[in-house]
Amino acid sequence: MTVTDAEVLSTAVTAALRTIDTNLAAFGDRYPGDTTVQGRYRLRPATGDVPEGGNVGWTTSFWPGMLWLAWDLSGADVYRRAAEAHTASFADRVHNGVDLDTHDLGFLYTLSCIVPWQRSGRSPARTAALAAADHLLSRVLEPAGIIQAWGDLTDPRQRGRTIIDSLMNTPLLFWASRTTGDPRYANAARRHTAQLRDHILRPDDTTFHTFYWDPETGEPLRGETEQGNSDDSCWARGQAWGIYGFALNYRYTGDVSFLRAAQRCAGYFLKHLPADRIAYWDLEFGDGSGEERDSSAAAIAVCGLLELATQSGVGTYRAAAGDILQSLINGYATAPGSTASDSTAPDSTAAGSTALLLHGVYDKPKGVGVDEGNLWGDYFYLEALARVTLPDWTDPW
Ligand code: GLY
Repeated sequence: MTVTDAEVLSTAVTAALRTIDTNLAAFGDRYPGDTTVQGRYRLRPATGDVPEGGNVGWTTSFWPGMLWLAWDLSGADVYRRAAEAHTASFADRVHNGVDLDTHDLGFLYTLSCIVPWQRSGRSPARTAALAAADHLLSRVLEPAGIIQAWGDLTDPRQRGRTIIDSLMNTPLLFWASRTTGDPRYANAARRHTAQLRDHILRPDDTTFHTFYWDPETGEPLRGETEQGNSDDSCWARGQAWGIYGFALNYRYTGDVSFLRAAQRCAGYFLKHLPADRIAYWDLEFGDGSGEERDSSAAAIAVCGLLELATQSGVGTYRAAAGDILQSLINGYATAPGSTASDSTAPDSTAAGSTALLLHGVYDKPKGVGVDEGNLWGDYFYLEALARVTLPDWTDPW
């Protein structure tokens, strides 16, 4: 396949929209859980004061994010109205301080508030996104100049720790500088990305999932995994975040060392794919390992490789993205445009799944969301379809 194979793509988009229709009927303006359970999304579990289906955790914005994509892909107003209905919940969340001790404010507020602000110009969405950017800025630790990933800033286990995924959260800061004219946000994003380039990206082009800096001296300390197979292995989704995240940070800064970092992540990722081009959950595993693939890493990588092709002008990244996307459509998407019989993929016939993509892994070491669909995999699969089917489409990042 090439990524311009219109009939295959059109069938895949139609199938994805059908699944979104099912989920829209089930969830409306509430939130599904991070992953499917036995193939089906359920309402997000209640936690603390937040009832079932409430807006907590790092993945809720992928649901309105998918609805915005569904509107772009179909033009059907039902998706725009459904997407817009989520903005108020995200505004409440940031203004009331609900579950904000995370760097994932970028994922959360880019999709839920910057997108509607850019489309409708309604100021509550901008105000909420700026409040989120301020909160993210408050997580910068000096003198290291890194953004702490998780937890309260005084939590000894999390203090001074950042993670590769954070590269996808810096676009919120670049946006905040553009919209306010205040350079502090962009400066923080650039310093943080430079630290990840120098320490989370290893000399052999693999990445640590997480890395600690001494919060007092700013000295780089050590890498450690959280969701990979071992501290020294290469967690597949982290490497995919690296491709896309470094490419986006290059887009906003023009710093060619970030482009080079994205290329290094991409080179290693592509060299360590199995026959069907869908990564196992850790890149140290290959065919015959008996381990699970992570379709969400593949979907993120497709978007990252397409961005990298645009940023670098290197066409082979686009071809590699097309091969992975074809394999996702053939063997991993629900109601795919063709059967899985020509694929080495795991059985993709899980009848009745409400995920767009089967066979993701959230956190294998903890046994969470293993061989299930997940919200971010579904979102980036749909973003990949938007990227290759809508010629003038602009991504939200
Ligand atoms: N950002 C968390 C993950 O990729 O699992």
